[in-house]
Amino acid sequence: MKNINMKVAIIGCGRISGHHCRSITQTEGVELIAVCDLLIEKAKAYEEEFDTKAYDNYHTMMEDNPEIDAVAIITPSGMHYEHTLDIISRYKKNIIVEKPTFMKPSQVTEAYKKAEDAGVRIFAVFQNRHNLAVKRVLQGLNDGELGQIRSVSVRVRWCRPQRYYDLAPWRGTFAMDGGCLTNQGIHHVDLLRHLGGEVSRVCSIHKTLGANIEVEDTAVAAFEFKSGAVGSLEITTAARPIDYEASISLVCENGLAKIGGIAVNELQVYTPDPDSCEINSEDFSGNVYGLGHSKIYEEIVETFKQNKAFPVSYEDTFSTIRLLNSFYQADEAKSWVNVGSIKDSVRLGQLDNDLANLYRTTLPQGI
Ligand SMILES: NC(=O)c1ccc[n+]([C@@H]2O[C@H](COP(=O)([O-])OP(=O)(O)OC[C@H]3O[C@@H](n4cnc5c(N)ncnc54)[C@H](O)[C@@H]3O)[C@@H](O)[C@H]2O)c1
Repeated sequence: MKNINMKVAIIGCGRISGHHCRSITQTEGVELIAVCDLLIEKAKAYEEEFDTKAYDNYHTMMEDNPEIDAVAIITPSGMHYEHTLDIISRYKKNIIVEKPTFMKPSQVTEAYKKAEDAGVRIFAVFQNRHNLAVKRVLQGLNDGELGQIRSVSVRVRWCRPQRYYDLAPWRGTFAMDGGCLTNQGIHHVDLLRHLGGEVSRVCSIHKTLGANIEVEDTAVAAFEFKSGAVGSLEITTAARPIDYEASISLVCENGLAKIGGIAVNELQVYTPDPDSCEINSEDFSGNVYGLGHSKIYEEIVETFKQNKAFPVSYEDTFSTIRLLNSFYQADEAKSWVNVGSIKDSVRLGQLDNDLANLYRTTLPQGI
């Protein structure tokens, strides 16, 4: 028998939602109250598997289940902002939001402000921060074992063919998805800040090389940290025919730290303590989403229960999304841009009402 402290509902029962359902049902202190998808058969599948309630209209779900504490927003990325604001303003519930969180820095600010005004919280899902290898390198940076960072290199070489982008209308659009940097690479953009610190300026070139989509499937960037360290980034979903790697390496004063594998899951080199590599490497068995969702839910329940600060703060989320937008702005400007002074990208997350209407939920009669 689980000891329940937090009741969660899910909006969006697509590809990643199973990780949420499994993590919630396996985590002590949290219960999956209800799931919702516009396509009721998707929600129904979870109703049976996870012994929960299925809905196709989230307003009905919220009205029927007032005891819900938090709602996980797992809808197309460009809808996270609208769905979050709707849940906060109408129902005053905490929000668990999938990556990339929100598309623009201004949306991050507005969503967190609305949450604060309503007395609820936003829990951002950046599950790769929980990979053992990432935690080990962060520890080595924090306690001085690695010394000063000199350069950081991010490399993601994954395969997303046309049929992946054809799965749903939102995929491969600037309004709802963003390209390889926003969809797949956001984890690594977040990690380069999480490990390397704040970035001061970036220069980036984006291309669409392997699929017929409007967004980039390949991005190459150079950047400089506030600390004076430098970095490079190569993220592509145009690799064929398989996913090859997602890695981040840091050249530091006292040696090299290289996290590699299919999804930043293996500590491949750690010069100050080579013996720590094996025990800090995880086998994801080819699953690029990793195992971090269950750790996120443990963390959410813990911080919710004890009313502690969630480790991914507003400032953290804002800085990651501002850095993300900086890469797009540098590509748009075809020059270096200063991260601290950038505004929203003119492309990413711009409202497209025709697309958004596919994912909007209207109030049912009587509510
Ligand atoms: N953390 C990770 O590693 C990770 C991995 C994959 C996806 N994601 C993120 O999760 C989100 C969803 O991605 P996905 O691959 O599961 O997409 P998907 O298209 O497979 O699923 C999205 C689902 O949301 C449903 N939906 C849309 N609007 C809705 C509404 N108003 N009410 C109820 N349901 C609605 C759709 O019907 C669809 O089933 C994206 O933001 C994506 O970036 C995160």
